[in-house]
Amino acid sequence: MNFGGTFPTTRLRRNRYDDWNRRLVAENALAPADLIWPIFLTRGEGQRIPVASMPGVDRVSVDLVSEHVAEAVSLGIPAVALFPYTPIDERDEDGSEALDPENLMCRAARALKAAHPNLGLIGDVALDTFTTHGHDGVVRDGYVDNEATVEILCEQATLMAQAGIDVVAPSDMMDGRIGSIRAALDAKGLIHTRIMSYAAKYASGFYAPFRVAVGSEALRPDSQRRHVSRLGDKKTYQMNPANSDEALREVAMDIAEGADMVMVKPGLPYLDIVWRVRREFGLPTFAYQVSGEYSMIMAAVERGWLDHDRAMMGSLMGFKRAGCNGVLTYFAVSAARLLRHG
Ligand code: PBG
Repeated sequence: MNFGGTFPTTRLRRNRYDDWNRRLVAENALAPADLIWPIFLTRGEGQRIPVASMPGVDRVSVDLVSEHVAEAVSLGIPAVALFPYTPIDERDEDGSEALDPENLMCRAARALKAAHPNLGLIGDVALDTFTTHGHDGVVRDGYVDNEATVEILCEQATLMAQAGIDVVAPSDMMDGRIGSIRAALDAKGLIHTRIMSYAAKYASGFYAPFRVAVGSEALRPDSQRRHVSRLGDKKTYQMNPANSDEALREVAMDIAEGADMVMVKPGLPYLDIVWRVRREFGLPTFAYQVSGEYSMIMAAVERGWLDHDRAMMGSLMGFKRAGCNGVLTYFAVSAARLLRHG
């Protein structure tokens, strides 16, 4: 790259002089097609329940979900990611609800496919939204058991795909799950079902508002139950925030096992990881701007400390600049509106 210019012959401010010029020389652009909208599902009928920890985010019942995403579809958002809310008294130790073909995820997938055939459906593969302890897998002898969990995840992913989920997204961080899930899907002839791996997912405090949204009581920051076991957090499977090379190993293994797309999570604090992954592997790379990142911005907006649109767009452009093909973000609809209609 030629950095040769010297002042005053070269004035970098010239290309920032007016709006058309700034647009002309923009290196990155954000479009609705870059956005994936995570949505929360709840039981019952006619339910639209605000999530206390996430201003502007609701849980909706299956009868309302098609209408809930209609604007997203018309704005050109290509896909939504589905997360079910399961109340604590309807969970069990092994998250058996995950294997019920009539669970919220499967019912919502069928409804959404019928109403919006061109909307991509991404289904979260993990047990945390179904287990009493809130872990992503089953606990055996005080440890989240890898192989026992992967076996269940294979079944969960297959059920979802059969219900119409286009992309299964394992967010559990068990070893070897991508290869096992690929084999399980293929064995059922589900060869077009894609896998978006949460490949580099870090043990992070930024997931706290999400745990309120899905009802993972035991892992909520305000919970009395969180010290029920020595597994009060997810550090035995999610990555240590101190590590970066390890993320490349995670991604490399997931690619070798058949991942079609990979994700880095959380988002903004991990853009260095996004950058490395995209450069090293060049496959479709996504980041998840997680609940805590969203709620931090929204809380500051509510206090009048940040401008909503500028903070939102600034954060989303950061993902593009770092090399993301797309971003999972609770801002998806607001951002797409702004991109379409100004
Ligand atoms: C768990 C899962 C989590 C999120 C997505 N899938 C939480 C966790 O790992 O505890 C977090 C998303 C967010 O914070 O917005 N399978």
